[in-house]
Amino acid sequence: MQPSTIPTTDEQDSPLDKFIIEGGVRLNGEIRASGAKNAALPILAASLLTDEPLRLHNVPQLEDVVTASVLLSQMGVRITQPDEGTLEADARGVHTCVAPYDMVKKMRASILVLGPLLARFGEADVSLPGGCAIGARPVDLHLRGLEAMGATITVDEGYIKARASRLQGAHVLFDKVTVTGTENLMMAATLAQGSTVLENAAREPEVVDLAMCLNGMGARIEGAGTGTITIHGTSRLHGTEYRVLPDRIETGTYLVAGAITRGRVRVLDTRPDLLEAVLTKLEASGAQVQLGPDWIDLDMLGRRPRAVNIHTTPYPGFPTDMQAQFVALNAIAEGTGAVTENVFENRFMHVQEMQRMGADIQLEGNTAIVRGRDGLNGAPVMATDLRASAGLVLAALAASGVTEVLRVYHIHRGYEHIEKKLTALGARIRSASESPPTPDRSNQNVPAARSGA
Ligand code: UD1
Repeated sequence: MQPSTIPTTDEQDSPLDKFIIEGGVRLNGEIRASGAKNAALPILAASLLTDEPLRLHNVPQLEDVVTASVLLSQMGVRITQPDEGTLEADARGVHTCVAPYDMVKKMRASILVLGPLLARFGEADVSLPGGCAIGARPVDLHLRGLEAMGATITVDEGYIKARASRLQGAHVLFDKVTVTGTENLMMAATLAQGSTVLENAAREPEVVDLAMCLNGMGARIEGAGTGTITIHGTSRLHGTEYRVLPDRIETGTYLVAGAITRGRVRVLDTRPDLLEAVLTKLEASGAQVQLGPDWIDLDMLGRRPRAVNIHTTPYPGFPTDMQAQFVALNAIAEGTGAVTENVFENRFMHVQEMQRMGADIQLEGNTAIVRGRDGLNGAPVMATDLRASAGLVLAALAASGVTEVLRVYHIHRGYEHIEKKLTALGARIRSASESPPTPDRSNQNVPAARSGA
């Protein structure tokens, strides 16, 4: 394919970019939610299941979407971008079923090509993702499920090598709720012989969105959004046109931006019904929240937020992808909040950076005890993964003085036009080149653009 057809982002993907944020401005205004990254990525991978084009709308312009497009195009999928926000993926010319290490290490969600490749072509060689900034994150449940469907899987030279003449329907009980694991098996099962039942399946809205797109392609999936998903296999899927659902994590992040600055933020083109757990906590923090059919309005009425306790769990519980943002909120809130991370180990990389801004946070196992302070101070901080970076940007918006957030490429993986959107809300934020790197922090061994979420 021609490089010109690969979508690009207008953000720079340089590891040496930073945000310079002058905090203390009360945000006020409205912005539009983008399409959900975590729905767009599996849906793009689903294009591998058919030899007809898949036309997708509301696809966010993100580094992760570019990475997925490059990965697919290396396999022979023709990706074109007819308009901004629309991508067409045509997998009729796939010539290789390999997802190489340099792509998978850049984005863990690359594992999503495993199920579709195996189901349609009977083979897939996908690099093992390895560790990442937020913990070990194994893919054993993906592999066990595919084995239950009759695949032979070996791991050789760092690659998962999966083979199957035709996958067979199976009964799979997940030991643990896994979002991409559920998505991988659901995609694989669409082309299997017979029916597959996935138990203890992830109920995330992005799983439902993928199922709806797959059903539009001719799949027969029932129960997506519940803990039991049944997929009746079929021999062939066809192309379709599909609109990706709005990003609930992005929406939640901007609402916290309103709350943390004691301001007022309205997010348009979103899905309020998908944010219940987050909105409940924002209301508990003192925010006045109003909902419309596709918008959410948050008003702090100029008041300082109150600290809230958080326990992350799979959907419909409080999302781990909003944990860092609420640590930031608690850091400037009145009172003390305990934030317990139950989904990922080691997902508190933002804590020590926030401490550098004066936050009072104590880590006890998988709980961060956050004693709110009346203010934070600007400081240079380092983004380590996608959502940790979002937490740092929020802390910076509330801090007095200037905060430099280094390594912002993590943010561009998951937040479309973040600088423009925050500017539209009145924030003082700009990007600059991070050169020369500050000597005291440049030695830190920060994993290169490893997928954090
Ligand atoms: C997805 C999301 C990510 C989000 C996460 C949890 C995408 C592209 N990413 O990641 O933003 O933070 O869900 O909501 O959708 N696990 C195993 N074995 C496996 C698979 C997972 O032990 O085979 C464990 C993980 O280590 C983790 C937990 O299960 O502790 C949940 O992980 P999982 O839901 O799989 O996360 P992702 O799908 O990678």
